[in-house]
Amino acid sequence: MDTAARHSILVGIDGSQSALHAARWAAEEASERQVPVRLFHACVVPPMGPHVTTVTTAAMIESLVEQGHHWLRRAREEVRAAVPELTVRTDLRVGPAAGEIIDESAKSRLVVLGSRGLGGFKGMLVGSVSVGVAAHGHCPVVVVRGRMPDDPPPEAGPVVVGVDGSAVGDAAVEFAFEEASFRQAVLVAVHTWLDVSVADTWAALPRDIDWDSVAEDESRLLSERLAGWREKFPDVELRQRVLRDRPVRGLLEEAEGAQLIVVGSRGRGGIVGMGLGSTSQSLLHHSACPVAVVRPEA
Ligand SMILES: Nc1ncnc2c1ncn2[C@@H]1O[C@H](COP(=O)(O)OP(=O)(O)OP(=O)(O)O)[C@@H](O)[C@H]1O
Ligand SMILES: [Mg+2]
Repeated sequence: MDTAARHSILVGIDGSQSALHAARWAAEEASERQVPVRLFHACVVPPMGPHVTTVTTAAMIESLVEQGHHWLRRAREEVRAAVPELTVRTDLRVGPAAGEIIDESAKSRLVVLGSRGLGGFKGMLVGSVSVGVAAHGHCPVVVVRGRMPDDPPPEAGPVVVGVDGSAVGDAAVEFAFEEASFRQAVLVAVHTWLDVSVADTWAALPRDIDWDSVAEDESRLLSERLAGWREKFPDVELRQRVLRDRPVRGLLEEAEGAQLIVVGSRGRGGIVGMGLGSTSQSLLHHSACPVAVVRPEA
């Protein structure tokens, strides 16, 4: 793989409207980061039983490949229209979509996908390729979403980042500062510190906890955590929010009107081998703006 691919932003193209939104989002991103865009289609060949002849199979693959190239050309036109000076490359591989994109993510700077594809059904909130790549990709993955399926993503508003104090969370914080700086957007750093539903477990909690002191401690920890990044990105206007709530609720609330929400692939909870924590997973389903899932570099 050449270095150009390693530095490029890969966009998954499958002929859907959502993938075209992803391509346009990636074009703006690539223009900020001054890297090429690589439009990528995995040509998925459906399993065929023994009643299908080899000739039919070959003809079918040929027409699927032809269709894939057509979708890639269409996406390239969109990208060129959005940012004419951008370097754009198209690539097609025959194979399962999530697997092929996860492989390619190891050689990419960033992967950008739509939230929905050509499959799915009415009421489905996010597609399996998007969730699979967000869970197992080797680089940061952005799933481009709007308020409703097929809506374009919002273009203005703050960047919101979830800070949980974990190593994975630190990678997310760096990514969020970069994005806020590019976008000249306010960065809202959200730290929620009660990862249980208080209402359900209230009886079990000790009664003599001084919640105000806990909140103060958590605020101080958040400031300390962000101090280095503040220095590195003095241009970014930072707002800190410390909430006694579950992360997903706090983040979704803060992300109302945001243009991007950034989270680590998983947080302090979860189990080894789990690709995505529950917060990241839920945001992929419910956010009204693009979600960036970030993991530390291998
Ligand atoms: N074959 C593919 N090649 C490249 N990118 C793809 C492919 N399939 C999906 N994608 C990417 O993933 C995004 C989400 O599509 P996904 O396939 O996850 O949802 P879906 O088709 O609605 O549901 P599902 O396939 O899970 O039934 C697309 O917008 C596109 O960016
Ligand atoms: Mg699909």
